[in-house]
Amino acid sequence: MMNTIEKLRVELGERAYEILVGPRLIERAGNEILPLLRRRQVVIVSDETVAGNYLAPLRDSLSEVGIAHHAVLLPSGEETKDLDHFGRLAEDILAIGIERGTMLVALGGGVVGDVTGFAAATLLRGIDFVQIPTTLLAQVDSSVGGKTGINTRIGKNLIGAFYQPRLVLADTETLTSLPRRELLAGYAEIVKYGLIRDAAFFAWLEAEGGSVCALAPAALRRAVMTSCAMKAEIVAGDEREEGDRALLNFGHTFGHALETETGFSSRLLHGEAVALGMVLAFDFAARLGLAAAAEALRVRRHFEDSGLPTHMADFGLAATPADRMIAHMSKDKKVRDGRIALILPRRIGEVFVMKEAPLDRLREFLAEAAA
Ligand SMILES: NC(=O)c1ccc[n+]([C@@H]2O[C@H](COP(=O)([O-])OP(=O)(O)OC[C@H]3O[C@@H](n4cnc5c(N)ncnc54)[C@H](O)[C@@H]3O)[C@@H](O)[C@H]2O)c1
Repeated sequence: MMNTIEKLRVELGERAYEILVGPRLIERAGNEILPLLRRRQVVIVSDETVAGNYLAPLRDSLSEVGIAHHAVLLPSGEETKDLDHFGRLAEDILAIGIERGTMLVALGGGVVGDVTGFAAATLLRGIDFVQIPTTLLAQVDSSVGGKTGINTRIGKNLIGAFYQPRLVLADTETLTSLPRRELLAGYAEIVKYGLIRDAAFFAWLEAEGGSVCALAPAALRRAVMTSCAMKAEIVAGDEREEGDRALLNFGHTFGHALETETGFSSRLLHGEAVALGMVLAFDFAARLGLAAAAEALRVRRHFEDSGLPTHMADFGLAATPADRMIAHMSKDKKVRDGRIALILPRRIGEVFVMKEAPLDRLREFLAEAAA
């Protein structure tokens, strides 16, 4: 049982693809990728940290089945998603002498996945790519669904494309080298799926979340599979985020404001911001009488028990003026015509879009949350 690999399919017609979840998938990557190739050439894109651990086994696995491979390495971290790095990456890949049949392979976290996906979407007007996500966040969220992109000085992820991978290989063994803080940030996105549409999954996480974060194989596999299945289903129904896919942004408007306040730095990781954002969304919904206070408390407790932040003060964000938070929230992508739309819960397992949040109530709430 220990080495069980599970599979699921993202149903997108001719762009459908499989997600494989389980340990030691990198060692099988060559075999899994080979049938998808039009030309026996792949270019691996990775970051320096991940490459140190996993590039050699990936290269070995490709060599074993006769696939020629090159690797381009990027510095680790969010800075890698800027236009300068992207330009250099694109030229490095082109300089290798790729053709339309060449496959890119993204080996790394969400940063590598987003950049590589965007390179695949644009180089030679589009070539195939495979995702091998190595962070928990990338395995349960960013590698699935085909959002690719890079950052600009004006804002994050503002240049990009919807472009689906041909295959996702989520090798759960790679998570053993992931720093605990990064692991917990990814766990927050797992909890998100329970909160937005599966109360039973949330209840399971309350019982088994400790095992998931301790990387117990069966619990981890179930958490990753359930998350990917939910994301796959939502994406299959709304690939370009014109409807339900937006619900995946639960916690993100508050979270984005917190990340803006901390300068998108390692002071507050994206998943931590989302965890805190979901706690704030529940508390605000309880304040508005839309959700029960007891449910909001249950959510806060679970994040606390998991070791995730639940108070703005945890990040030195106490005393952040409410007006500044609101200004940050107004710049979020989900803002239309100066109104702040918020995804709010009705209960654990059900969220909805409130198109125009009451600003005075929000200001009052944020002033207290930062106290
Ligand atoms: N496309 C999407 O749908 C989507 C969704 C959510 C987030 N994102 C994007 O994902 C990015 C965040 O992704 P992330 O949290 O994976 O960050 P990341 O890719 O920066 O990885 C975090 C850190 O962990 C290191 N790392 C990665 N795998 C490791 C491993 N197995 N062992 C040890 N260290 C490892 C990396 O080098 C990096 O320093 C953001 O840019 C965000 O915008 C995209």
